[in-house]
Amino acid sequence: MAPTALADWASAGLVAADGDVVRPLLRLRPHRGLLLAHDAPRGEGEPLPADFVMGVGNSSITLSELTVRRHSRRTLDLGTGCGVQALLAAPHSDTVVAADRNPRAVALAAFNAALNAVASVECRLGDLFAPVAGERFDLIVSNPPFVISPDRSYVYRDAEVEGDSICREVVRQGAGHLAEGRRMVRGHRLRRLGDLFRGAGARGVRERLDRPHGAARPPRRGR
Ligand SMILES: C[S@@+](CC[C@H](N)C(=O)[O-])C[C@H]1O[C@@H](n2cnc3c(N)ncnc32)[C@H](O)[C@@H]1O
Repeated sequence: MAPTALADWASAGLVAADGDVVRPLLRLRPHRGLLLAHDAPRGEGEPLPADFVMGVGNSSITLSELTVRRHSRRTLDLGTGCGVQALLAAPHSDTVVAADRNPRAVALAAFNAALNAVASVECRLGDLFAPVAGERFDLIVSNPPFVISPDRSYVYRDAEVEGDSICREVVRQGAGHLAEGRRMVRGHRLRRLGDLFRGAGARGVRERLDRPHGAARPPRRGR
């Protein structure tokens, strides 16, 4: 770690030092040509901080493989975390807004944009679509908290709301932020998604349930 003193690493929040034992608190991970900083998983039995910012997980990969990589003038990544979806969208977008309600996620996404020399990603703090009120996008990607349970321990994992209503809210409000003829990609399945969009006033809705690239086709019923 030389020439920086251990105490400086610890006070910057990069490591936790306890006697002779030093643990990393952040991880740098290469992913599809990017370098991404995110919170390091903790040791067994050690609780995560509530504002833990996850790295690239299975849900991140599923969403990034479902995302249609056409040119987009304006892209929104809602619930950006470490900024992985926003940074993957940057090469095919003129500008990207990366929004999250966790200030630590917004700070890490901004750090990762700078680390990867991507100037077209703007990071904003706020709940759901509040940071982009009145704005429209050609592409909206979102990988919302994925555990549906009454637990409220972690902002990346647990929605602060009942059941899967965060997913419904993303779809319902998202319809009003899509430019005409544009698309939204979500990582989680929702039943009657088209009805939700139509209920939100969207016209000409076409729903497509894609499998991520390389995923096996599900078995047919009755076989
Ligand atoms: C499952 S993580 C996804 C992170 C990243 N987009 C990815 O694909 O790996 C969900 C993210 O949504 C954020 N989030 C949770 N509730 C939110 C809300 N109400 N509004 C905005 N962001 C939210 C969390 O802070 C977290 O960063």
